[in-house]
Amino acid sequence: MPSRMTIKRIGILTGGGDAPGINAVIRAAVKVAIRDYGLSVIGFEDGFGGLVEGRCRELTLQNVVGILPRGGTILGTTNRDNPFHYPVTQNGQTVFMDVSEKALQNLSQQKVDALIVIGGDGSLKIAYEFYNRYQFPVVGVPKTIDNDLSATDQTFGFDTAVATATDAIDKLHTTAESHHRIMVLEVMGRYAGWIALYAGVAGGADVILIPEIEFSISKVCDKLRERYEQGKKFSIVVVAEGAKPKGGELVVRRVVKESFEQIRLGGIGDFVAQKIEQALNIETRVTILGHLQRGGSPTAFDRILSTRLGGAAVNIVMDGRFGEMVCLRTPHIASVPLIEAVGQMRRVPLGCDLVRVARQMGISFGD
Ligand code: F6P
Repeated sequence: MPSRMTIKRIGILTGGGDAPGINAVIRAAVKVAIRDYGLSVIGFEDGFGGLVEGRCRELTLQNVVGILPRGGTILGTTNRDNPFHYPVTQNGQTVFMDVSEKALQNLSQQKVDALIVIGGDGSLKIAYEFYNRYQFPVVGVPKTIDNDLSATDQTFGFDTAVATATDAIDKLHTTAESHHRIMVLEVMGRYAGWIALYAGVAGGADVILIPEIEFSISKVCDKLRERYEQGKKFSIVVVAEGAKPKGGELVVRRVVKESFEQIRLGGIGDFVAQKIEQALNIETRVTILGHLQRGGSPTAFDRILSTRLGGAAVNIVMDGRFGEMVCLRTPHIASVPLIEAVGQMRRVPLGCDLVRVARQMGISFGD
């Protein structure tokens, strides 16, 4: 493994779905690497795809000017292109092959001494595989709006997604009130209910449905009916894309075979709205917030978290602590072995204070 003395050049790539704050991570890493350690930095384009195909470019201080408030990633990303299971066209057909050695060759050709991977569980698993199989020096930075990585208190991008969803709930409130309607808002989050719970509470939703608590439509309707009987002629229901009815199935929008995570959830909002309208005969509308949650300028919180993580990733490289992921252990930035970081999903604990207080305040979780 290289040491502080031998590291001259680091690589950076961003993999998986984008999240507000990635550019802030890149900026911090580039600045710390160049200004403080005198390193050079190379960015691989479009995640592991760029690494396999040798698509890369030098990242200078000039390249990161003005990117702190910008959403997305200047390097591009993809949630496909796993080098250990890479789509290759042979005789007009797509087959999957292990092309990881090609990626390794490109790293050596570009004289990369260590690689920083900014990604969610899919990309970090691949990063771990490079470290484990080839002992290539990698350091991970956790990224996802879903906030579902167990080894960090919070992922960057989550706070911005919650702010976007909260803003949507505020807007839905005014139109719901004017029209005396029920508004159902479907938010992202995969198999965890963090975005729904946080935005739901921050936006004053009446019902919050999360994957961690199976719901019953009759309980949801009981809550909505109670509000009508109290003279409240509108209601807001926030439903996480991974929520499901008791004994029911997840609603899948599409299957993406080449992706790290093949299933894309979506559509539970329509199901819930239709059932409510049938049961209560009150006009109900659905909004699916979708990828708006992944876009836009990061909040101040996310900019700071991203900056701390990006800088720390370079510090960890220079300390020779490879195969680790930087993480938030409030109030500190720490690191954990990548293998631990990718092992377990972080879901909403049912006994957490926010769920408890929400229930005490009368918010229904449909159970
Ligand atoms: O993991 C982030 C996320 O936005 C999830 O909340 C969502 O289920 C998924 O990615 C959507 O993926 P895609 O961008 O491939 O549609």
